[in-house]
Amino acid sequence: MNRMDYQETVNNIKNYLTYLKEIGINELPVSLNTKLIAKSSEPGASVGQVSRLSENKLSADIKPKTLEDVKRMIGDCKRCRLHQKRKNIVFGSGNEKAEIVFVGEAPGGDEDIQGKPFVGKAGQLLTKIIEAMELKREGVYIANIIKCRPPNNRDPLEDEISACEPFLKEQLRIINPKIICTLGTFAAQTLLKTKEKITSLRGKFYTYEGIKLMPTFHPAYLLRNPNDKKYTWEDMQKIMEEYKHHKI
Ligand code: URA
Ligand code: URA
Repeated sequence: MNRMDYQETVNNIKNYLTYLKEIGINELPVSLNTKLIAKSSEPGASVGQVSRLSENKLSADIKPKTLEDVKRMIGDCKRCRLHQKRKNIVFGSGNEKAEIVFVGEAPGGDEDIQGKPFVGKAGQLLTKIIEAMELKREGVYIANIIKCRPPNNRDPLEDEISACEPFLKEQLRIINPKIICTLGTFAAQTLLKTKEKITSLRGKFYTYEGIKLMPTFHPAYLLRNPNDKKYTWEDMQKIMEEYKHHKI
């Protein structure tokens, strides 16, 4: 296991344990390593008190079932440094049963203040794009890889991503859309675990956890490069085509 994988695993375990603690589970079932733990802990800690749920049962019990569960699981998150300067956690908004989900990078200033994704200038363009697809903003779901604003809108760091992405993953698992549309380099590279450029990634379908995923340009990029809007429009037409097939 390389260092990055190791760090990610450690972070995942840490987040999972934090979550368990938040929902009131202070002890873990002990099976294989019972003896080891019994030996290493002082007499005060009785292994006999530990609940004996099987691991499968435990994970089925605590997997969030609704977006509200995920929100609760995030709580007043302090899992990474971004909590220090945020005004609001930007969880995501829209239809819990959406068939199309848009995923951006991280909240900017407006989003941080309002606690909602894509409400600034880039967000207004995203709304126009969604409406041009003859969809409604409330009908789809909109989220970001990172839920707290990075200072001065800098790129999110590796450890911030590994602290935050698991929650998006749960949101996507619960919504279970037909199509995910990632907006910009960062979202595409994070979900597809690649370093390829957005110019070569966009316009093609990939698979994320069994869900079709189409990368396109970020609306903030399109505001700076309006000549590239036509490419995003091509990508949206591919999404609409694919979406129609699901409806039939
Ligand atoms: N219509 C909806 O209501 N939701 C979607 O996600 C897409 C189309
Ligand atoms: N840019 C993003 O990537 N996400 C937002 O929510 C707003 C701007």
